[in-house]
Amino acid sequence: MSARPSAVIILAAGEGKRMKSAVPKVLHPIAGRSLVGHVIEAAAHLEPEHVVVVVGHGRDQVVEHLAEVAPWVLTVVQEEQRGTGHAVRIALEDLLARGAELNRSVVVLTGDTPLLTGETLSGMLAAHDSACTVLTAQVPDPTGYGRVVRAGEPPIDFVASIVEERDASAEQRRIDEINSGMYAFEAALLGEALGKLGTDNAQGEEYLTDVVGLLTESGHRVRGHIAPDADDIRGVNDRAQLAEAAAIMRDRINLRWMRDGVSMANPSSVWIDVDVELEPDVTLLPQTILRGPTAIAGGARIGPGTTLVSCEVGANADVIHTWAELAVIGDGAQVGPFTYLRPGAQLGAGAKAGAYVEIKNSSVGDGAKVPHLSYVGDAEIGEGTNIGAATVFVNYDGQNKHRTVVGKDVRVGSDSMLVAPVEIGDGAYTAAGSVITDDVPPGAMAVGRARQRNIAGWVERRRPDSDSARSARAASDASGASDRVREDDSVREE
Ligand code: UD1
Ligand code: CA
Repeated sequence: MSARPSAVIILAAGEGKRMKSAVPKVLHPIAGRSLVGHVIEAAAHLEPEHVVVVVGHGRDQVVEHLAEVAPWVLTVVQEEQRGTGHAVRIALEDLLARGAELNRSVVVLTGDTPLLTGETLSGMLAAHDSACTVLTAQVPDPTGYGRVVRAGEPPIDFVASIVEERDASAEQRRIDEINSGMYAFEAALLGEALGKLGTDNAQGEEYLTDVVGLLTESGHRVRGHIAPDADDIRGVNDRAQLAEAAAIMRDRINLRWMRDGVSMANPSSVWIDVDVELEPDVTLLPQTILRGPTAIAGGARIGPGTTLVSCEVGANADVIHTWAELAVIGDGAQVGPFTYLRPGAQLGAGAKAGAYVEIKNSSVGDGAKVPHLSYVGDAEIGEGTNIGAATVFVNYDGQNKHRTVVGKDVRVGSDSMLVAPVEIGDGAYTAAGSVITDDVPPGAMAVGRARQRNIAGWVERRRPDSDSARSARAASDASGASDRVREDDSVREE
């Protein structure tokens, strides 16, 4: 039989009560992708002609999400959750109504099994050579799952029926082979059997699992295909299972990257989203979180304590204790510790953004440095320029944002305020503590601060009983004494 199915139906209409969430269960993310998104990704591996997601609870949110992440999937609404069999039935009817030709297999999956892999599905389809193949797993604790009743003693390839726990006898409950809720069916036989489903069971629902019994009763064979890794079929029903699934996915992703040449000092503390790209010889230090389509070139060292969201990092860059989102970090650039790069921050090759520096929507040229305690917003900083400690790019006048352009090889003095819009020419200097409101021509020194004046004796007059006054007096006594000595000397000399 052709391995390429006519359709994949993904059941995702249930409420997911145990999540206790305003967000529909299948939209909860792990590794940067929703639960149902992971299932769609595995389904796509089979190259089916159609993918239909059955939606119900929270359907508006689910439909909107699917339109965004997988616009090619179809959705069908199941108004009332009348069971897994009912859900598949309306999905099939919907496909036929759309004119789909279902002359090969139909695969049924559930939307809450994010660890399912395309390979496991391919394995199930490769084994599929009868009316139905059920993906099963042998688990230490089968509680809550439907049990797979084999036709005879194992190891027997064929299944007699699936019994839901609530409907199972004590003996059946001891079976440790469970129904994953995932199947491949021959489409025509599936349609026929669905038409015969009743609701005479503990939940009063149309059980898809009863299709298995109906098929075997009418003389068809149903194969039980054991998943190579029981984790693949793990469902997520509550937050604890969500965390477990996320940890398993993390370990899988990290293992893959380590095999591809990425070093991790402490893999269990490193979280990498599915869309991240890493080159060999990237080093990820503890507590590193890489989210979205982040890409990191070889030799870069990230962490410890760093979160990068949709960032690009060049070869051999060093990014320590940093939070960065939609930022581009050039080859050999140095970032951190304690640096905040916001969307549109672009650091050139060998550039530096040091401790307590925040950069937004700004480019920092090759070799340019913003080493300490600065805010850079809406600016362009030329190559080789140094921005002194505690400089603020004053980009906001209370209503609008304005740009600052700083040329090449500029030296901005510490504690400068660069009030945008303003331009500092190539090779210019600004004096420390300046408020720069006017453009500075190339090569000029801009001084934008009041001249210092000292008011002699102010402390002793205004704070006469303070420690400061006492210290000041002591200092002036000491210098007064030496003055006197000098006066005495001069007197003597005269
Ligand atoms: C189902 C299987 C059980 C299997 C288990 C694996 C049945 C009767 N039982 O049980 O043998 O071990 O999955 O996890 O099929 N859904 C709908 N519409 C409905 C009902 C369910 O879309 O009317 C969706 C749910 O959102 C969920 C999936 O189908 O994603 C499974 O339904 P659920 O009620 O959780 O079935 P289980 O009791 O877990
Ligand atoms: Ca379930």
